[in-house]
Amino acid sequence: MPDQAEKLRHLVGRTYTGPMPHQARRIAFLSGKGGVGKTSLAVNISLAMARLGHKTILVDCDLGLANADVLLGIQPRTTLDRVLTKNGDPRNAVVVMPSGLWLLPGAGMILPQEAVDTGRLEHVLQVLDADVDFILMDGGAGIDEGVQHVASLADEVVIVAAPESASTLNAYRLIKVILENRRDLPVRLVVNRAHNDFAARHTANRLASAVNKFLSTEPEFIGWVPSDPIVEQAARERRPFVEKYPGSMPSRAIISLANRILQPPAGPPEAA
Ligand SMILES: Nc1ncnc2c1ncn2[C@@H]1O[C@H](COP(=O)(O)OP(=O)(O)OP(=O)(O)O)[C@@H](O)[C@H]1O
Ligand SMILES: [Mg+2]
Repeated sequence: MPDQAEKLRHLVGRTYTGPMPHQARRIAFLSGKGGVGKTSLAVNISLAMARLGHKTILVDCDLGLANADVLLGIQPRTTLDRVLTKNGDPRNAVVVMPSGLWLLPGAGMILPQEAVDTGRLEHVLQVLDADVDFILMDGGAGIDEGVQHVASLADEVVIVAAPESASTLNAYRLIKVILENRRDLPVRLVVNRAHNDFAARHTANRLASAVNKFLSTEPEFIGWVPSDPIVEQAARERRPFVEKYPGSMPSRAIISLANRILQPPAGPPEAA
């Protein structure tokens, strides 16, 4: 029986050990459990980064139900699934927003397997690479092959977890699978929908100490976003909350996360 890593090696071929050489920093937003806020965070953080003057593209890589376009109030002409299945030019699908953010919208449907199988997503990222400084990838939830494929192409992953124990347990499982395939991939943690600083840190510490103990690596907790009805309110209005409610607590948390993400991940501790 092939193990997970072997299956992925077969699945993504040459991209397994990491992406091909590139210059833009690729950051994948992933979570073990669905609905914890990956898209809300990826949309608002990428917008904040663009507004800080960094050339940023958000690629909606959710191979299930992509919805970054909805949160940005965009009706896409074409989407990533069509680019992947027709081997089209991804630049034709890119939407340039007034904020300076670029979006490559995702599929409103489950992506066909062939789109995931062939390394075409790597090709899409390569084509976009020269034009941007940051490629943020909004991934799906869970540990399936599509999610692992996205992780296999990233330079770092931001794991979004909610304070509930199911979310942290699934986040741990996801980190385990990711590290089986990419031992050196930097893992950063964000806690979303926390009620206060204590709860957020408690969640992050629990997850980080399990990862540290059983997977022998140190994930970097980079911040948290409070649970706040303005997040859903902005989503209903199809406006990113950093734009619509700039003074709110979640928006301030997003700005601080964006600034943190702009700094490269902390390296492993120096050997003594
Ligand atoms: N900090 C928050 N406070 C309140 N509601 C939030 C917060 N973050 C996200 N939500 C709400 O939670 C729901 C799920 O968010 P979102 O779609 O961003 O999650 P997701 O992880 O991308 O989901 P999926 O796994 O389906 O892709 C949405 O209704 C969103 O408005
Ligand atoms: Mg999502």
